[in-house]
Amino acid sequence: MKARMDETTSDISENETRRDFLVLATRTVGATGLALSAWPFIDSMNPSSDALAISSVDLDLDKVAAGQRITANWRGIPVFIYHRTPEQIAMTQADDGSNLPDPQADSARVQRNEWLVVIGICTHLGCVPIGQRRGEQKGNFGGWFCRCHGSQYDTSGRIRKGPAPRNLDLPAYSFLDGTTIRIG
Ligand code: FES
Repeated sequence: MKARMDETTSDISENETRRDFLVLATRTVGATGLALSAWPFIDSMNPSSDALAISSVDLDLDKVAAGQRITANWRGIPVFIYHRTPEQIAMTQADDGSNLPDPQADSARVQRNEWLVVIGICTHLGCVPIGQRRGEQKGNFGGWFCRCHGSQYDTSGRIRKGPAPRNLDLPAYSFLDGTTIRIG
């Protein structure tokens, strides 16, 4: 089963900004060893919550340029993946000492500084914040802006302003190699 990953961005190269979407090859696998060939059957039967709970998604991030943001669909929820530039990383880390509503160092939120991986659901009442797509409002802190009630997140996915009670949640994920990530 192929999972689709939308490409969205803030400041990528001109060529890349011309593309609204990019479909990157991904793979949905069962953590308990379900054969890939079993997935079409399972999918057609509307997988149970148990089946969804064990699913994971592999994404090849090789084509995701520095500064680019993409959204993956994992278990039916959006996962924001942000390939941060050295400048963005430095800015984010410099904010570790700011007055954060939900204090957390950036280093505690990433496995690799250049890759931020967060669940794209506002921790207030569950809206999907904007800021993934080129030209979308990102709030005052360069991350994401939730139009529902005005929460603003920074480039570490930390809540900085508004009613959201905590930072964007982090999904379970791991790097399988230099550029392949497994979510779930
Ligand atoms: S749901 Fe995001 S601010 Fe209310």
